Amino acid sequence: MNIIINKDYEAMSEKAADFIAEYIAKKPDTLLCIAGGETPMGIFRYLVKYANEGKIDFSSCKFVSLDEWVGLGRETRGSCKETLYNNFFDLIPVKEEQICFFDGLADNMENECRKVDKFISDHGNLDLIVLGIGMNGHIGFNEPNVPLDTECHIVGLDPVTKEVSVKYFDTALDVKQGISLGMKTITRADTILLIADDFRKADIVVKTIEGEKTSEVPSSLFQDFPKLWFFLDEAAASKLT
Ligand code: F6R
Repeated sequence: MNIIINKDYEAMSEKAADFIAEYIAKKPDTLLCIAGGETPMGIFRYLVKYANEGKIDFSSCKFVSLDEWVGLGRETRGSCKETLYNNFFDLIPVKEEQICFFDGLADNMENECRKVDKFISDHGNLDLIVLGIGMNGHIGFNEPNVPLDTECHIVGLDPVTKEVSVKYFDTALDVKQGISLGMKTITRADTILLIADDFRKADIVVKTIEGEKTSEVPSSLFQDFPKLWFFLDEAAASKLT
């Protein structure tokens, strides 16, 4: 795990976006996966700016979703699809066929899993994945005590995730399940970017980097990964020894 501590959220977002831009410059047909949630918002801003300035070319890239709340679609503010489309895909020159996203409203969620697994295996592997960390250390919707041999799957949401979910939605929603790339798929990615900002993440950052490596804290499982870059701001890093 390579740890990069930046002064603040803005600097962290810019540095992580620069990393992504450099990756895509070297591998134009990158299969890229970026989490929803709040943390990547700054990265989206920089990536959109770079695309508009011609500093990054997404035309040969493919994009796959990390996760979604089961029962929510793009029309729900705060769903992963709404977040990714409104803040990223709709603002860059990208065609719909370059994107494979979970449909949280599909009748058959198992088919959604197979659809996304196939999109990834058709490409060979994930190239670059950008992940936030839940307050409980979850990665995507891989919650505490996650099995490690999973591809896309349906997950019962942890109480912490349900509690935190209210920050995303206009009204409280009774979310019970998620659909997510599994740890096997995620850990096979060529390169992983982990991002965390703010004091509220300081405790989970300590557990991730300095705590016991355990599936109770899924993010701690990345400790020995050489091809993982953990971008933090000073606040999130403030409790590290
Ligand atoms: C969202 C996702 C989650 C978030 C994590 C952190 O698609 O996969 O694992 O990355 O819960 O969320 P924020 O960034 O809102 O603190």
